Amino acid sequence: MITQVTQAPVTTPTRGDEQVNILLVDDQPAKLLSYEVILSELGENLVKAGSANEALEQLLKNDVAVVLIDVCMPDLDGFELAAMIREHPRFQKTAIIFVSAIQVTDLDLLRGYQAGAVDYVPVPVVPDLLRAKVRVFAELYRKTRQLETLNAELERRVAERTAELAEANADLEQRVEDRTREREAALAQVHEMRKVESLGQLTGGVAHDFNNLLMAVLGNLEILGKFIPDDPKLKRLIDGAIQGAERGATLTKRMLAFARRQELRPETVAVPELVDSMVEMLGRSLGPSIRIDTEFEPNVPTTRVDPNQLELAILNLALNARDAMPQGGRLLIAARAATVGSGDIPGLASGEYVCIAVQDTGSGMDEMTLKRATEPFFTTKGTGRGTGLGLSMIDGLAAQSGGAMRILSKLNSGTTVELWLPVAERVAVNRQRPVQAAPVEIRPCRVLVVDDDPIVLAGTAAMLEDLGHMPTEVESAERALALLQEQNGFDLVLTDHAMPGMTGTELATRIRRNWPQLPVALASGYTDLPGNETPDLPRLSKPYRQDDLARLLARMIDFKPAPPEPKPQRLPVSAAE
Ligand SMILES: Nc1ncnc2c1ncn2[C@@H]1O[C@H](COP(=O)(O)OP(=O)(O)OP(=O)(O)O)[C@@H](O)[C@H]1O
Ligand SMILES: [Mg+2]
Repeated sequence: MITQVTQAPVTTPTRGDEQVNILLVDDQPAKLLSYEVILSELGENLVKAGSANEALEQLLKNDVAVVLIDVCMPDLDGFELAAMIREHPRFQKTAIIFVSAIQVTDLDLLRGYQAGAVDYVPVPVVPDLLRAKVRVFAELYRKTRQLETLNAELERRVAERTAELAEANADLEQRVEDRTREREAALAQVHEMRKVESLGQLTGGVAHDFNNLLMAVLGNLEILGKFIPDDPKLKRLIDGAIQGAERGATLTKRMLAFARRQELRPETVAVPELVDSMVEMLGRSLGPSIRIDTEFEPNVPTTRVDPNQLELAILNLALNARDAMPQGGRLLIAARAATVGSGDIPGLASGEYVCIAVQDTGSGMDEMTLKRATEPFFTTKGTGRGTGLGLSMIDGLAAQSGGAMRILSKLNSGTTVELWLPVAERVAVNRQRPVQAAPVEIRPCRVLVVDDDPIVLAGTAAMLEDLGHMPTEVESAERALALLQEQNGFDLVLTDHAMPGMTGTELATRIRRNWPQLPVALASGYTDLPGNETPDLPRLSKPYRQDDLARLLARMIDFKPAPPEPKPQRLPVSAAE
């Protein structure tokens, strides 16, 4: 007989959650009933079994907190049942309380404990005692279960937290990896910039020295040309030498452009007009197999750039395009306005720009060529055919003008080179080409020539003498100042800028302070010129020719009231320098 009874508690048990099962085992129904009455007060679930078998069956079906066993039963004695229960792994810790009707000896007690009893209740059963004992074990069971639940919950939370941490860790690792990669890329970029910067310095320095040499060569050849007999063969030789030196001068100009040290004369330029004025000349340079198109957005704003250098840049790009299209093709020169956000285009600050795109349908560049195209002296055109300075010069011009150059190219898909130049303040375009003016007459002048390079000094002096002037040569700014203290009567000071000790610009400032009437001109090819300090200082670009020198003098001496002079001389002069 199996009976399951759930009794409503007589007194409210003091526990916060579910009931536990208490198994009552006795072969006498009356005793079972009496246990039930006694224990019902606990409010737990009482399960009754009339035999050992029933008891085992119940145990297997339910989770039992406490088993109350009568020691003497007909089928099985209580000790044996307890031993069987204990053998089962599930019930090794189940509390077993023995109820013994007969007087138990110490030996019996010992046997009971060995069989797995945790306590004894003697007969006659004292209800309070039985309740108290059962309650203790029921509570223990409940607390153990709660502890297990809490433990499981804790483990679940730990597992959850561990998973979260692992995820956060993976995220962190990914971010560290990303940052490291970004940092490495930035470092590589800085390294590349430093490399280009030092190449620029080196190139600038070399170009400066070459300029001085070429000045001497050109100046002397020019004067020599005037003295040699009128022999066409000799004249051809001299002209050949002059052309060679001039090509050298063009090369040094390109080197200075790459080094971002060329002297720029920015003007407000309307790009469409400038490009339109070049199309005819480009057509001649590129030949009939290349079609030239232009495409300008309406109202492209004006930009601030040196127009001559921009023309040279566009011409260079067109020549590159021609070289990439040996079978012919199409060259498109386009201009548009664009707003650039920070980081949109490498090297460009955010702002308003004019983008000039020169696009061809030529061979394009492979990855390696594209990467190296702007490196100075990088060329794929073979020795003697390309200097490899074209793109680096254009890049230098764009950067020096506050813009940037960008190349978009793929092998066999043509090339687009973009020049981004800052939009000029909205002022009227005033682009006048230098006009050769009629020669003006100029008196012989006393010119103080200052240059630390003796070859340049001697060359300039020779040119001046040949023009009928009286040069005085000094090799430093300090010497020039000392001489000016000692002697009066100089009409003009022509000084180099880059000199050890005091620079030409500093010298000019001192002269202006002490001898405000004395005009000063700066000769320089290598412009670290602090342009803003003396913006109105007349300049002569090295290497200069005798004509350039004559024009400068005419322009400057004009400013002075001419005293009564001996023999005047005719010189070619440009009014729009
Ligand atoms: N439009 C283009 N299409 C394909 N490749 C080009 C183009 N422009 C330049 N390149 C590649 O970039 C290299 C460098 O060009 P860059 O203008 O600096 O020098 P270069 O043309 O070789 O020499 P130089 O300009 O002195 O004649 C070229 O040799 C060529 O390989
Ligand atoms: Mg080129």
